[in-house]
Amino acid sequence: MKNFQLNIVKAEQFLVNGAVAAYEPQVKAAMETLEKGIGAGNDFLGWLHLPSSITAEHLADLKTAAQVLRENCEVVIVAGIGGSYLGARAVIEALSNTFEWLKAKKENPVIIYAGNNIGEDYLGELTEFLKDKKFGVINISKSGTTTETALAFRLLKKQCEDQRGKEMARKVIVAVTDAKKGAARVTADKEGYKSFIIPDNVGGRFSVLTPVGLLPIAVAGYDIEQLVQGARDMEAQTAMEVPFMENPSAVYAAVRNLLYADGKKIEILVNYQPKLHFMMEWWKQLYGESEGKDGKGIFPASVDFSTDLHSMGQWIQEGERTIFETVISVENADKTVTVPTDEENLDGLNFLAGKRVDEVNKMAELGTQLAHVDGGVPNMRVTIPCLNEYYIGQLIYFFEKACGISGYLLGVNPFNQPGVEAYKKNMFALLGKPGYEEETKAIQAKL
Ligand code: PA5
Repeated sequence: MKNFQLNIVKAEQFLVNGAVAAYEPQVKAAMETLEKGIGAGNDFLGWLHLPSSITAEHLADLKTAAQVLRENCEVVIVAGIGGSYLGARAVIEALSNTFEWLKAKKENPVIIYAGNNIGEDYLGELTEFLKDKKFGVINISKSGTTTETALAFRLLKKQCEDQRGKEMARKVIVAVTDAKKGAARVTADKEGYKSFIIPDNVGGRFSVLTPVGLLPIAVAGYDIEQLVQGARDMEAQTAMEVPFMENPSAVYAAVRNLLYADGKKIEILVNYQPKLHFMMEWWKQLYGESEGKDGKGIFPASVDFSTDLHSMGQWIQEGERTIFETVISVENADKTVTVPTDEENLDGLNFLAGKRVDEVNKMAELGTQLAHVDGGVPNMRVTIPCLNEYYIGQLIYFFEKACGISGYLLGVNPFNQPGVEAYKKNMFALLGKPGYEEETKAIQAKL
């Protein structure tokens, strides 16, 4: 089994010969800025050496809290949005049996997500579904004041207390939030919930390896030690002293910035495994919020292949040539499904008989890459041997590190997200939140 690999050959051919190697000084400077903590947003670098600083005691504490939820709940609601949601879901879905939650006898509590939308039907249907369930809640919010999450938590807390009683609710509600401030912290302290702290210096989209991601992942039954180990090994593999062309995060950051400078304004992250759908969502948030500012930034998009080859495939093959692709390729499937022979062969598929379905998938992947490159779409490929905690941990840190480097190469502060506030201000003004009277007046003038 091969290890994590980044292959840039089919992207490099779109660049001037030797352009990636020649970019080393700029990349090294960006890495140094990151490492020395001298760039914009340097108060949010807690993620940089997080994997190597997570202690066995911390992981044990998380596992103990997870066990309490696992023993007392058939359903656990993970309430959070953005960085307080996507990482946990990305990992859990990548590792889960797709049909686990439909099985009559389940090995793990069913994980459901809330607080990531304001859909009344969603919340109405969720509260209906939970009516006869022994459920618990992990309330995740760094600020502790995010409307989507706070709204869902208000409903879930009441329902949990009404259904399971105050004492049991206290046992099965866990908070992951700031050490001191925010409504989630105040409630957790007042009610006596078990709580975990989101470090001040780790922003939401870089927080999957804090309790934000680790607690739900442990509750779902996955090995957080292996996840952290994968990230830790990738931290070493992407360290400052590793030669540039052997450092996958540095090379990925370099190639995407060179392509961007060459007019490739959109990066499409591609998977061939439906389980990776939320990994793409996590990646989009990581790169979108980190780089899309100051009128700059690669637009991060994603597709699930081969599904989307039957929709977005046309655009990618022949649309405007402003895109490049990064494919996440998983070398080995976990299950073995072989195409059966059919005497009548009405579907004409006997040429595939005896082959693994994964082989068909791999040929779809290779055929698509060749077609897209022929069509003018630079391609990078990230390969992991299989979907397990260790390799997902590697993937997470690889993308995080590359994001920090890439943001500095682009010349932005990769660790803030001022643009996210604009909609909130308008929404609060429109809803008449106290303190927003001036904004309400300004908005009314525009309507
Ligand atoms: O990455 C970010 O900072 C954001 O996406 C936040 O994670 C998101 O807005 C949720 O914020 P909070 O954890 O404060 O509820």
